[in-house]
Amino acid sequence: MGMSFPDSFLWGAATSSYQIEGAVQEDGRGESVWDRFCHTLPHKIAGQDTGDIACDHYHRYREDVALMRELGLRAYRFSIAWPRILPEGIGRLNPAGLSFYERLVDELLQTNIKPFATLYHWDLPQVLQDRGGWLNPASVEWFAEYADRVSRQLGDRVCGWITHNEPWIVAFVGHFYGSHPPGLTDLKAAYQAAHHLLLAHGAAVPILRRNAPRAEVGISLNLNPIYPASDSLEDQEAVRRQDDFLNRWFLDPLFKGAYPDDMVTLLQEWLPRINLTDVQTAAAPLDFLGVNYYIRNVVAFEESELPLQVRHVPQEHAAATAMGWEIFPQGLTDLLVRLKQEYAPAAIYITENGAAFDDPLPQNGVVEDPQRIAFLEVHLTAVAKALAQGVPVKGYFVWSLTDNFEWTHGYEKRFGIVYVDPLTRDRVPKRSAHFYRQVITGSAVP
Ligand code: FCB
Repeated sequence: MGMSFPDSFLWGAATSSYQIEGAVQEDGRGESVWDRFCHTLPHKIAGQDTGDIACDHYHRYREDVALMRELGLRAYRFSIAWPRILPEGIGRLNPAGLSFYERLVDELLQTNIKPFATLYHWDLPQVLQDRGGWLNPASVEWFAEYADRVSRQLGDRVCGWITHNEPWIVAFVGHFYGSHPPGLTDLKAAYQAAHHLLLAHGAAVPILRRNAPRAEVGISLNLNPIYPASDSLEDQEAVRRQDDFLNRWFLDPLFKGAYPDDMVTLLQEWLPRINLTDVQTAAAPLDFLGVNYYIRNVVAFEESELPLQVRHVPQEHAAATAMGWEIFPQGLTDLLVRLKQEYAPAAIYITENGAAFDDPLPQNGVVEDPQRIAFLEVHLTAVAKALAQGVPVKGYFVWSLTDNFEWTHGYEKRFGIVYVDPLTRDRVPKRSAHFYRQVITGSAVP
């Protein structure tokens, strides 16, 4: 099927600081919660991996930007490591840390690649975690200060600012499921962290606007479309609750200035003793919503699963990626159309979409990854379908530029369109990188 994208469509790739930079002790960088988490026994990361060296992007960023140019990228989404800028979290600025991002941004601009910077992609300064991290109401001011210091310096050289990456993951995987730092398993704490993340976003937006009046400002959410396991009313109500839990808990504050009522009622005893109406400050108007899309959920009613009474129904026969995630491109179209109808964001960027597969090793200078090409084809087609229905999607950032440190999966799960040799860290574009270049230049039609 022939699908077309407007000429202005922004084709990019995404990464994040802890996943690629390495150089964790260089040029005055402070410790982040991920450094601490990876180095704390017993090991929690596959292969006992850490981000200590990662892709060594800190030293190889010029080479990486050259690679982006070869691929024809028009935009690059990276994140800024808070502990490089403010090693103590607040207060003392580390000019050497800031200078790294200035060099990166200048290199991108010289190459005609638009820089999109995420302020917070999960690497909180450990010193702030020691003071309670996102559970401390002061985290709102900490983040505002950090946003101010960075954007004063990089301001309009950065074309797009993203406050948080996937605050749901920070709040719930970090504070309820416990598999990310700070490793808590406390639902009340998760809601408290979520609240402060939202308020911190709301505090940062006007600061970014003041310091970078020409840049676009947004946030990236992990959004999962939810489907019922059957037509029963009970399963459909379970969908509603799961949607409140995963999606609307962030979308409603950001676009409507309030938490979803039915969830507030249901979760009364888990909600922190804070003023929920304060969340209206999260609704600062945005230039775009960043959508990170990987999976859908299929759910059924389950009486015993309190408080949500939701059970996940695995789609065992469906095609899946190496993460075990079902490949379901229709979910992306459904999600985008729904966002337009219910929230009408000014614009949407797909700020992450991509897949891990067990790729073969490079042979004759290329990695053959036909599954990733097929994944990209069907998902780009899904985006084109949403565009055809009037959803204002302005760009797409593939996750990820290079294979990198996939959090608790270490280096085992490879999401890159570019292979990274685990020992030499040499980069080898995969076949999917060549495919993506053809999509960008218009010579391949997804
Ligand atoms: C997202 C994260 C990103 C990466 C992908 C696979 O949740 O934002 O850092 O780990 O998943």
